[in-house]
Amino acid sequence: MAALLAIHTIAFAYLVSVASSAVAPGPVTYIFGDSMADVGNNNFFPQSLAKANYPWYGIDYSTKQPTGRFTNGRTIGDVMSAKFGVPPPPAYLSLSMNDDAILKGINFASGGAGILNETGSYFVQYLSFDAQISYFEKTKEVIKLRIGEAEAEKLCNDALYLIGLGSNDYINNFLQPFMADGQAYTHDEFIVLLNSTLNSQLMRLYGLGARKVVFNGIGPLGCIPSQRVKSGNGQCLHRVNQYVKEFNAQVTKLLMALNAALPGAQMILADSYPVVMELIDHPEKYGFKISTTSCCNVDSTVGGMCLPNSQLCANRRDYVFWDAYHTSDAANEIIANKMFADLSALTSGSAAPAPAPGPTSF
Ligand SMILES: *[C@@H]1O[C@H](CO)[C@@H](O)[C@H](O)[C@H]1NC(C)=O
Ligand SMILES: *[C@@H]1O[C@H](CO)[C@@H](O)[C@H](O)[C@H]1NC(C)=O
Repeated sequence: MAALLAIHTIAFAYLVSVASSAVAPGPVTYIFGDSMADVGNNNFFPQSLAKANYPWYGIDYSTKQPTGRFTNGRTIGDVMSAKFGVPPPPAYLSLSMNDDAILKGINFASGGAGILNETGSYFVQYLSFDAQISYFEKTKEVIKLRIGEAEAEKLCNDALYLIGLGSNDYINNFLQPFMADGQAYTHDEFIVLLNSTLNSQLMRLYGLGARKVVFNGIGPLGCIPSQRVKSGNGQCLHRVNQYVKEFNAQVTKLLMALNAALPGAQMILADSYPVVMELIDHPEKYGFKISTTSCCNVDSTVGGMCLPNSQLCANRRDYVFWDAYHTSDAANEIIANKMFADLSALTSGSAAPAPAPGPTSF
């Protein structure tokens, strides 16, 4: 119960700062993740097989150009940044360490990445979560040189860390018959491995100054088009959805344990599962027509990306899914808005919210 209260308090402090972001500049944000959050890091890898820098990606982005985002327009993170009143943080590999951008927020996310190093290894070039944290570590050294040790520590303590990883540990690892982990582990064992690896990674980030962490839980992977085709009749894979629900539950416990053990840690789970499931179950309520197949019509167990020779759907706004893995711009907007509103709802029930934990809020 105490842990639950702590989570409410954090969410409250978070909203207070968001509400005031119209006047204050938005938070410095460091983003870690996979293809859901990548804004162009993989474009810098000539050999990477996890890229989205070609048409039709970006067709509904403001520039109408492919950017490396794995969707037709904005990512969930893009919509969230707009709510914070800041531009989306740039891709780490697009920056020079002399850029002032490194003091304002960076996106380290890389398509194909997972919590485990071996996840996504067949994409050849990408940044695993460990590699993303190592780049953040390098960045912090540069920040120290730029603004001094004490200021750098404060900047890192006050920054917001948005992390979205885990989907590829299932889709591009555990559920792939040709990857070793699916053979070596039962799901119970695999989740212990994910949990303990994530524990070390979050401790490492904490050691580098991260305090305010939002971990995005995994969505209903069993219902994405690339998984539905495996059912033979287009149904969601119930077993896969059970796996990711279990993962989200264990990560919630992990974050609570870290908050209890590490002074100043404020780590919360943003549970996208019910939000995405709602769109899939009731597409028409949100202006969609189809939530079971992708606009690019590339639903298969191999490939699944929207290649230049794909035949797009007539109306992209009708589809929850853009390609066989990734949600559309229209879906991302609704998911981001709903996750934001859910954070508010979480706090509205408490009659007398506790004061924000510490002088800075998140
Ligand atoms: C994962 O790779 C990193 C290097 O990127 C290495 O430091 C780390 O020890 C590896 N972790 C495991 C569990 O093998
Ligand atoms: C995950 O870690 C948390 C915190 O240490 C622990 O409470 C939970 O039991 C762990 N879950 C698994 C499946 O290892």
